Amino acid sequence: MHDASTRQQPEVDVRPARARGRRSTVAGATALAVAGATVAAAAALLPTAHAAEPEPLRDAAARHGRTVGVALSPGHLSQPGYAAIAEREFSLVVAENAMKWDATEPSRGQFSWSQADQVADFATRHDTELYGHTLVWHSQLPGWVDGISDPADLRDAMTDHVAAVAGRYAGQVDAWDVVNEMWDEDGTRRDSVFQRVLGDGYIAEALHAARAADPQADLCLNDYNIEGINAKSNAMYDLVADLKADGVPVDCVGLQAHLIGGQVPSTLQANLQRFADLGVDVRLTELDIRVPVPASAASLTQQAADYRAVTEACLAVERCTGITVWGVDDGHSWVPDVFPGQGAALLWDASYQPKPAYTAFAAAWGADPGDGGPTDPPTDPPADGDCAVTWTANAWATGYTGSVTVTNTSGVAWPSWTLEAELPAGQRLDQGWSAAWSQSGPTLSAVNAAWNGSVAAGASVSVGYNASHTGDTSAPDAVTVNGAACAIG
Ligand code: G3I
Repeated sequence: MHDASTRQQPEVDVRPARARGRRSTVAGATALAVAGATVAAAAALLPTAHAAEPEPLRDAAARHGRTVGVALSPGHLSQPGYAAIAEREFSLVVAENAMKWDATEPSRGQFSWSQADQVADFATRHDTELYGHTLVWHSQLPGWVDGISDPADLRDAMTDHVAAVAGRYAGQVDAWDVVNEMWDEDGTRRDSVFQRVLGDGYIAEALHAARAADPQADLCLNDYNIEGINAKSNAMYDLVADLKADGVPVDCVGLQAHLIGGQVPSTLQANLQRFADLGVDVRLTELDIRVPVPASAASLTQQAADYRAVTEACLAVERCTGITVWGVDDGHSWVPDVFPGQGAALLWDASYQPKPAYTAFAAAWGADPGDGGPTDPPTDPPADGDCAVTWTANAWATGYTGSVTVTNTSGVAWPSWTLEAELPAGQRLDQGWSAAWSQSGPTLSAVNAAWNGSVAAGASVSVGYNASHTGDTSAPDAVTVNGAACAIG
């Protein structure tokens, strides 16, 4: 889904039929939402029939026009448990390591495709999307690249690599992580041979090279610790805004989401939305949620709630194309190697048994659990009237303090909540409390804080904000929580 303003190619969709078909699913979901066909859309989100087996994640996600992906290591496919899950559950695959620079071009101009081709073949055989990871990255970079100090030489090496790898899978890869992990935690550029030798412009150069090599693939920038609103995600946000303004082809932002149990950022949804508002797709590209090992029942329950919260945040953002988990099972995860004492971060355990996280994740997508019973109640789409809100303003000449109390009248607990309201003309948010507040045009948004996301059925949560005004201090006449219209008292 390229943005028309930056796209260099004709608008005709020349993707393979497989890709065009998938895109139309998302377009269909969008059209429904735009048409405001709430009832029809809600019906489309519900499973049609209960089956004996749990519904594959890919089928549930398809009803939302999204994909659920997995990082695949082809060497593990010889293990039947690993292969069975990978083949059944996912609608997107990404090579965990096989398309990286050290795997594809270990010596200059000498390409090695066998592992990468296995991942691409898997995608073809199982009719999944193929996500490319990654073209330009400081890590898993062969020594010959790290040793280049001449800018022209490095530019040639980078553009040749991008041309060869993106060119080989052109027409098959749906989206590429063109540049990976370019930021330090404080939002300054990470040191790398590309940054040192080519300077800030290397990212735009890599994007242009990728577009030339594969005009159909979406081009993404990807990083970790940018899931919440913070210095690092602000830097990514500013970069994407600048690239768009300069006409550089960038279509998507990947938020890796290597998370810690109990620490899903409260600003995740608002952060996804602000990137989407720049005109790019967003995706959780490498989700795993680590806990101390051996994992306790309590930590696995928390982890399940976290998987659910991440999914709900993605589903609440129209341009969130889906979620990729970074591996099939806990026995094949990078986490314990890098974080000793932590692990158990994925949806299946090391014996390929589904964990509470799988159950919660599947329920959040609305998958039929296959037990013959009703779908887990919280997966029902929110309905208008599931909330009630009181909204008062304590005003002075140019400003006012808004006090908002939201009551959950849905009959089921909210694990998280997002409030949206259309402010009357002239009202501008200054700052708020007890939630992550933002304003885009007239739309005021508040996303729960970490401590008040969970709202039991019948319970209320109170938040507030300060705003400026130009005379009209009236309350909004339309308020939604989690997408459902609230009664305003
Ligand atoms: O292939 C060699 C093998 O021959 C050797 O015997 C073995 C000894 O340790 O190492 C093997 O290479 C390992 C490789 O994974 C393949 O298994 C590397 O040591 C190991 O460092 C490498 O780790 C990968 C890591 O990226 C490298 O940075 C992980 O599998 C992979 O999951 C991880 O993925 C990254 C994403 O690409 C970017 N975002 C973060 C994410 C997690 O770190």
